[in-house]
Amino acid sequence: MTLDELKRLAMSMLDKAYCPYSHFPVGAALECEDGSVFTGVNIENASYPVGTCAERTAFGNAISAGHRSFKRIVIATRTKDYSSPCGMCRQFMYEFSPDLEVICLNEKGDAKTYTMRELLPGGFDTANLQSRI
Ligand code: THU
Repeated sequence: MTLDELKRLAMSMLDKAYCPYSHFPVGAALECEDGSVFTGVNIENASYPVGTCAERTAFGNAISAGHRSFKRIVIATRTKDYSSPCGMCRQFMYEFSPDLEVICLNEKGDAKTYTMRELLPGGFDTANLQSRI
């Protein structure tokens, strides 16, 4: 899939977001290393902390289908400025993809691109667990 197609897909997901509390839809399109693509939206809950972000929904869909290697994710929001992934999503994505390309879109579809390591320098990983004494 081209980057433009991936961007359009992420933006098309905005209408599927379930966000009756924040009214802040987020759409994500995640491309795996083998080229397959999975989407996600934010899913809120009347018990607010139970809600989940679009990025983690997309990763959950891909991981459930057996994928473990990811190339890039496009995250769309209806905002003037670029949004960026929340801290919890950064750590979640870092687990699988410290070298992931993270492409954030504003409402016009303009892109700001980061690497996962830029977004989460020194993220917690299995090496940290292994250095336990
Ligand atoms: N949200 C995401 O889906 N991704 C992020 O990285 C930031 C926040 C969602 C969570 C909540 O449903 C809404 O945006 C407002 O915080």
